[in-house]
Amino acid sequence: LERISINTNNHTSDIYVGESRTNILNYMPDKKAVIITDDNVRKIYGDEFPSFPVFSITPGEGSKNLKTIEMLAGRLLETGLDRSGFILAVGGGVVCDIAGFLASVYMRGLPFGFISSSLLSQVDASVGGKNGVNIGLIKNAIGNFNQPEFVICDPSMLNSLPEDEYLSGLAELIKMGVIMDSNLLDDIENNREAILRRDTLILESLVSRSVRLKASVVTEDERESGLRMILNFGHTFGHVIETAGDQKHGFAVASGMVIAAGISEQEGLLSVKELTQLVELLKSFDLLKKHHIPAARFSEIIAKDKKKRGDEISFVLLEGTGKAVVRNLSVDNLMKDYNMIYHLL
Ligand SMILES: NC(=O)c1ccc[n+]([C@@H]2O[C@H](COP(=O)([O-])OP(=O)(O)OC[C@H]3O[C@@H](n4cnc5c(N)ncnc54)[C@H](O)[C@@H]3O)[C@@H](O)[C@H]2O)c1
Repeated sequence: LERISINTNNHTSDIYVGESRTNILNYMPDKKAVIITDDNVRKIYGDEFPSFPVFSITPGEGSKNLKTIEMLAGRLLETGLDRSGFILAVGGGVVCDIAGFLASVYMRGLPFGFISSSLLSQVDASVGGKNGVNIGLIKNAIGNFNQPEFVICDPSMLNSLPEDEYLSGLAELIKMGVIMDSNLLDDIENNREAILRRDTLILESLVSRSVRLKASVVTEDERESGLRMILNFGHTFGHVIETAGDQKHGFAVASGMVIAAGISEQEGLLSVKELTQLVELLKSFDLLKKHHIPAARFSEIIAKDKKKRGDEISFVLLEGTGKAVVRNLSVDNLMKDYNMIYHLL
């Protein structure tokens, strides 16, 4: 069991990697509490939930909207939860993003905690205090920064995840190694079999290293004014592939990482050997799926990117494996590089 703390503005948020979900009562404050979860997680783990009222949403991104917030807020009012209460979310990134946002605005805010149940949420979504919901197709259009009191990452919950959800989370774990820690990446490469068989001890060690890296970034730059931007590595092209190419987040980010690494190589920052190593690693986990998005579609969508200033976009590149840097590149330059490397996918 490892405790990793995120310290921001007089608040400490503790992430416990390797803790069992069944010990949750040790972490709950002595307050009236409710549980927010989704129907899949409830079906598998509901019998083990502590005896608080449970509100379950329909699984998936389609629930991540203001209607769900309104519906849940109504249910909390009915149960008489007030500002002295507590919200426990049990689920993946969708449940955590919704519950964190609801807890931030319900009665002007009450404390909350997570049992993070998917690999994506253990390494990414439940770490860092970003909460929110979508408006139509615009992801996280309404949201805030607010840290949970605690996050429990129980690696044994990952055994019940569908394979594509598991691999999708793995892409974000690989990303943390690629941008910050080449040793983590080597260990992922060397433990491929154990990872694929979801060995709990290996997962506990890898998740905790990844969370430690993300926590260090968030502690330094909670509101993404600088350093935190490196976490977006692979996401500029990845988001286009996710929406226009209809791929699951992690798979799209994996392709986005290959493109960003290829552009880094074109810009003279990354060696061909390092680029090839990344491509081979992602391929070995079957994370690279073909997309059929024309280059013009990428430039069109990227030109609208919110990280764009004038003609240039802040883009995350690699200055060698394990070291990400943010550079301003013109969309033309980006697409010129892209045209040189798209055959890698
Ligand atoms: N807040 C952040 O910083 C941040 C970062 C990355 C992603 N996100 C958000 O996270 C969301 C994606 O997260 P996700 O991939 O966890 O999606 P998710 O919550 O939809 O979970 C994926 C699927 O797995 C199921 N599931 C979850 N845990 C399970 C378990 N232990 N066993 C069996 N099934 C389980 C869910 O019911 C769902 O069907 C997106 O909305 C994304 O925007 C947020």
